[in-house]
Amino acid sequence: MCGIVGATAKRPVSEILLAGLHSLEYRGYDSAGVALLHNDELFVSKHQGKVAILEAALQKQPSPSHIGIAHTRWATHGVPSAENAHPHVSNNRVAIVHNGIIENHDQLRKGLQAQGFEFVSQTDSEVIVHLLSVELHKGSDLDSALGAVVEQLDGAYAIAAIDIAHPDRIAAARHGSPLVLGIGFGEYFVASDPLALRQVTNRFIYLEEGDRVSITPDHYQIWDKTAASVTRPVVELKDKLDQASKGDFDHFMLKEIYEQPRVLAETTSFAGLPTVDESIFGANASEIFDRVDAIQIVACGTSYHAGMVAKYWFESHLGMPCNVEVASEFRYRLRAKRPNTLLLTISQSGETADSLAALRDAAPDEFLASLVIANVDNSALVRESDLVFLTQAGPEIGVASTKAFTTQLVGVLILLLAFGRRKGMDSGFQAQLLQALRTLPDDVEAVLVQRARIEAVSERFIQKHHALFLGRGVYYPIALEGSLKLKEISYIHAEAYPAGELKHGPLALVDEEMPVIAVAPNDELLEKLRSNLEEVRSRGGELYVFAPQEANFESSDRVHVINMPHCDAITSPITYTVALQLLSYYVAIQKGTDVDKPRNLAKSVTVE
Ligand code: G6P
Repeated sequence: MCGIVGATAKRPVSEILLAGLHSLEYRGYDSAGVALLHNDELFVSKHQGKVAILEAALQKQPSPSHIGIAHTRWATHGVPSAENAHPHVSNNRVAIVHNGIIENHDQLRKGLQAQGFEFVSQTDSEVIVHLLSVELHKGSDLDSALGAVVEQLDGAYAIAAIDIAHPDRIAAARHGSPLVLGIGFGEYFVASDPLALRQVTNRFIYLEEGDRVSITPDHYQIWDKTAASVTRPVVELKDKLDQASKGDFDHFMLKEIYEQPRVLAETTSFAGLPTVDESIFGANASEIFDRVDAIQIVACGTSYHAGMVAKYWFESHLGMPCNVEVASEFRYRLRAKRPNTLLLTISQSGETADSLAALRDAAPDEFLASLVIANVDNSALVRESDLVFLTQAGPEIGVASTKAFTTQLVGVLILLLAFGRRKGMDSGFQAQLLQALRTLPDDVEAVLVQRARIEAVSERFIQKHHALFLGRGVYYPIALEGSLKLKEISYIHAEAYPAGELKHGPLALVDEEMPVIAVAPNDELLEKLRSNLEEVRSRGGELYVFAPQEANFESSDRVHVINMPHCDAITSPITYTVALQLLSYYVAIQKGTDVDKPRNLAKSVTVE
C-alpha cells in the first residue's frame, strides 16, 4: 500500500527520505517519488518501479535540500506510471503526497478544470494539490490552506504538503489513513508508519482521525478535527531495529517462518500462564469477560483464517457460539444486535481499512465490547478497541503472513483458556492445552526439520498452474490458509475445499495435471479424508499428503507423503500451517517470484 515520508531538518534530508521509502517497500508499491525544496525551487523526481530506480536518479543530482516529502504508490486510480506517481505538483510551487482514496475526485476535478487547471495524471490525488494551490492563491498560509482543502474531501486520506513560500514547513493531515509525527532533535518528520523513521527517531505521536499537523525543524503544532490546537501523547518505541533485517536468510518470509518457535513461545509467556493474566487485555478485561456469552469475529485475509480456526475452537471446546465474517462484508450489511457478544477483530497490522471500519461501524449497543488480536502496538485497531491482545511476533515484513498468523492462533488459545475458566472447561482438557502450548515451539522445530523434504517436493510444482487443498474440520481453514499462501507468492491458482465437498464440484477439475494437497492429521475424520483422497487417486490426481506416521499413508509414484511430527491435536493446526508455509515458499522459489513482495499485493491494506 502507499507509503508517506516527510522530513524538515537542519541537514540534508534526501537520504532520510530514501531510507524511509526503503523501509516501507515491504508494504507493496509500484512507483516511488520525492519532492525537495531548495533555494525557492521545487525539485521533483518520480519513477515507475523500485525505490532503487529513484535512488539512482537522485544520486546523479544530489540535493542539499533540508525539507522534502516522498512516497511509494500502490495504484488505485490510474495505471502504475511516472505521471501517476506522487508527489503531485501545482503551479510549480506546491507539492503533495497522498495515501487513501478521494471519493469525490471526479466532481472536484471538473470544478478545477473549469478554473483552468490542467491535470497531468489519472489519479484521484491530483485534485488535492490543485485545491491547495487555489487556497494558497487566496493568501492563506500552508497550514490553513490544507485545513480548507480537507474540508472539501470525501474519502480517506493521509496527506503531506510543501510549498515554496514556506521553505521549512510541512503541513499534513489524516482521516482514515494512518499518519505519525516523528520527533527528532532539531528536526521533525511525518510518515505513514513509524518503521519508516526508526533510523532517525524512536519518539512518535500517533495522529488521530481528523488531525492536522504543521512541522518545521524547531516546532510542531497539531489541530484536531474541530480546528482546536491540541496536544497528543508522545510514544517511545522500544522494539529492536535489527528485527527489520533479513539476517542470514534469503528472504524475510523464510526468516519469519523460522522465527516461529521463538515468537510462539514469547506470545505464550506474554499471557503469564498457567493462569491467564487477564490484565494484559486491559484494565477491565475480567469484568467484561464475565459477561461474554458469544463471539463475533471480523477480519481480512490470513487473519480471517485465524478467525475461522477460532470458531472451531470456541464452539467445540467451550460450546460458545462464535460467528466469523470478512470485514468488507460485515461492515456493509444490516446486522442483528448480539447481546453479550464480544466483537473480536484479528489483524496483523492493526490498520486494515475494512477491519477498522467494521469496528467503527458497530453501534454502541450492538456488542458488549470490542477486543482486537493485533501484532502492532499503537495501531488504529489497538487504539480504538476496548481490549487488546498483542501477539509477540515482532515486525512481519514478508507480505505473505506467517508468524503473525500462528501467533494469532496462540492468542485465540489464550482467550480460550480465559473463557474456559468461566464456562466450565474440563480441567483435564485445560491441563492438556497448557502442556500443548509448552511443547508447541518444539513441535514447530520438528516441522522445520522437514525443510529439505518439502523443498524436494516443491520442484514438482514448477509446471503447475492450479492446485487444490483439502482439509476437514479445523483443518479446512488451514487448507484455506495453505492455498492463500501458495497463490499469493507463487501465482499458482489454488483453491481449498472441505474434503467432503470434493465430489460436489472440484472433483471435475482433477486430472494428472492437478496437484492435490491434503492436510491429514490422525484424527476422528482421518478415514473420511482417506476415502476422499482415494477419489482423487482413482482420477489420476497427484497427492501431497501432510500426515503423521500413525496415519499410515504410503508414498508411491503419485502419492508424496510429508511426515508430520506427532503433536497435540489442539495445537496441530499451527504445526500443519508451518509445513504449508514452507511448501509455498519453496514453490515460489522454484517459480522465481518476488517472495517477499508479490506482485499487486500490499502488506498493510489501508484503503478499501
Ligand atoms: C493484506 C496482507 C495479508 C493480510 C491481510 C489482512 O492482504 O497481504 O497478508 O492477511 O491484508 O491484514 P491484517 O493486517 O488485518 O492482518
